[in-house]
Amino acid sequence: CGIVGVTGNKNAVNILVHGLQKLEYRGYDSAGIYVTSDKGPDHLVKRTGTIDNLKKALTPEIKGTAGIGHTRWATNGVVNRANAHPQFSQDDRFYLVHNGVIENYKELRAKYLKGVKFTSQTDTEVVVQLVDHFVVKDGMTTKQAFLKTLGLVGQGSGYAFLLMDREEPDTLYLAKNKNPLLIGVGKDCNVVCSDSLAMLNVTHNFLELHDGEMVVVKPHSIHIQDKNGNPVHRKPFHINMDDKDTGKGPYPYYMLKEVNEQPNIMRKLTTLYLDAKGKPKIDHKLLDKMNQADRLYIIGAGTSYHAGLVGKNLFEKLVHIPTEVHVSSEFAYADPILSKHPFFIFLTQSGETADSRVVLTNVNKMHYPSLTITNVDHSTLSREADYTLLLHAGPEVSVASTKAYTSQIAVEAVLAKALGEVKGRQIAVDFNLRHQLSLVATGMQSVIDQHAKINQMAKKYFVKSYNAFYLGRGTDFYVALEAALKLKEISYIQAEGFASGELKHGPIALIQKNTPVVGIITQKKTAALSRSNLEETASRGAKTFTIVRRALAKPGDSFILPDVDEMLTPLLSVIPAQLLAYYTSLNKGLNVDQPRNLAKSVTVE
Ligand code: G6P
Repeated sequence: CGIVGVTGNKNAVNILVHGLQKLEYRGYDSAGIYVTSDKGPDHLVKRTGTIDNLKKALTPEIKGTAGIGHTRWATNGVVNRANAHPQFSQDDRFYLVHNGVIENYKELRAKYLKGVKFTSQTDTEVVVQLVDHFVVKDGMTTKQAFLKTLGLVGQGSGYAFLLMDREEPDTLYLAKNKNPLLIGVGKDCNVVCSDSLAMLNVTHNFLELHDGEMVVVKPHSIHIQDKNGNPVHRKPFHINMDDKDTGKGPYPYYMLKEVNEQPNIMRKLTTLYLDAKGKPKIDHKLLDKMNQADRLYIIGAGTSYHAGLVGKNLFEKLVHIPTEVHVSSEFAYADPILSKHPFFIFLTQSGETADSRVVLTNVNKMHYPSLTITNVDHSTLSREADYTLLLHAGPEVSVASTKAYTSQIAVEAVLAKALGEVKGRQIAVDFNLRHQLSLVATGMQSVIDQHAKINQMAKKYFVKSYNAFYLGRGTDFYVALEAALKLKEISYIQAEGFASGELKHGPIALIQKNTPVVGIITQKKTAALSRSNLEETASRGAKTFTIVRRALAKPGDSFILPDVDEMLTPLLSVIPAQLLAYYTSLNKGLNVDQPRNLAKSVTVE
C-alpha cells in the first residue's frame, strides 16, 4: 500500500492525489483521501479501483490545507469502498491510513472495543477506533492515545500509520515499524510518504524514520521521538531526482519505457562501476569482507530471485566460490545450515520487500556480513545491510520488473569480477566486462528494434493461448523462469519455465496442438540438447520459437542475439521475452503496468 500526507498547503488535495498516482505501483485495489482545514468542512472520499476513479469523485468543493491519502493492496478485508482507507472512528473524529498487517487486531477488538460500531473488515479500523477509545473514554491526549495504541499493536506487527484528529486540523501523527515512511521537508509545509517519488513536486529533502519512532508533524515543525520517548534530531537527506524523471514520457506504458531504457543503463553502469581500464570500482572494505567468506548466499523475491540465479553462475565461474540462491520467504523460516563464514547478498529493486527484510533481520542478529544490491538509496534493506551497491536504473514503476533485473545482473557481474580479481583468478582478470557491457548495450538495442516482429508473434500465437512454456538449460533455464514470470504476471497466460531436460519427466504432458513453447539457446555446451528437447515438443504439436545466440544459430531460428560472453547472455535473451509479455498483454487489452492482484513493492510477508 502507499501512504501520503500533507500539512500547510492550500493545494492539499492536488498534492495527495499526485502523490497517490506516483505510489500506485504499491497497490491499486482502492484509494481514498481525507482533507481538512482550519476553516471550512472536512472531506472523506474513497473509491475502489485506481486513482483515476478517485479523481473522478473529487469535486471543486473538496479542498483543504492538510490531509492524508492511501492506495491499497488488500490484505485484511475484501476490495470494497468500506475497506478502503482512510478508516475512521465511530464518532468521525480520527482518520487513519495504514500500510502493513496488525496481527493481533481481533484480540484488541475483543478486549477494548466491545459495543463499538465498525463499518469495515479491516485491521486498520481497529487501530483508529482504539485511538478514539483512549481519547474519549480514558481522557488521553491524541498523542498519548496513539502511543498507547502503538504499544498494543506490538513489535511483531509491521506498520506505517498516518493519523489525523479533526480537532487538530494541521497536525499529522505518524509511526512506523518495518514498513517504510518518510517525511518531506517543504517550504511552509511538510509532507509524508511511503516513497520519496510521491512528493518530489513538493520537496527534495526527506527525513528517514526508524522503527518504533513516533512523529508529530505540523506545517512548521517536525517532532520525532524514539521508542523510549526521547526526542530525536535528524538531518534531512537530499534526493537528486526530478519529478518529471518519474513520468512515462512518450510511452503508453511504463513497462515499455523501462524496457527501452536498458541499453543506456548498461552504459551508465559501465562508467559508474568500471574505470577507463575496465577495473571494477568497488569499495575495498566490501571486497575484503567478501574475500573472507567461504560461501555466498543470495536472497531475493520474484524477479530479483531470478537475477540471483544468474548471479550464482557469475560468482561460481569468476570467483570460484560456492553460491546458494534462495527465495526470501522460504529461507526466512527454513532453519538453514549455513557455512562457517557466510556472506549474504540481498537483491531487491525496491529495498523494501518484507520477505527479504525478515532474512536480513535474522542475518543481522547472527552478526553475519551483508550487502544489499538495490535501486533505491536510503531504502530499508540498504540501511540495514553493512554495504550497499546501487542499481542506478532510475525509478522502476511498472509492476513487471525489467530494467532492475538486467541492472542487478550487470552489478553482480562487476562484483564477481572484482572479487575474482582480489582472489587472483585469471578468468576474472581476463574477463573484459567493459567491452562486454558495451556489446550488451548495442545488442539490447538491436533486439528492442525488432519490436514489430515480437508484436506480430504475440498477436498471432500468444494472445489466444491458454498456456505457454519457456525452456532452457543452465543459465538459459534461469532466464526461462524470468521470461515465464513476465508473461504470466501481465498477460495472465499460464506460463512456466522448465529445465529443458526435465520436460520429458512430466511437463511434456501439458503440450497440445499449438501450445507456444520458446527455447532459449545461448550456451554452447547444451545447445544441441536444448534443441532436441524443443523438437520433442514440436513433435507433439507445440508451436516452437527460439531465442538463440548468433554463434549457435540455425536457419529458421526466431530471434538471433548478438554474441556476448556466455555468462552475460541473460542480459540479451530476456529482452525478447520482456517484449513478448508486453505485447501479449497490450494486445489482450490489459493494463500492462497494473496487472490484477499484484503490487510492485510488497511490504507484508
Ligand atoms: C513484487 C513485484 C515483483 C518483484 C518482487 C520483489 O512481487 O511485483 O516484480 O520482483 O516484488 O521485489 P524487490 O523490490 O525486492 O526486487
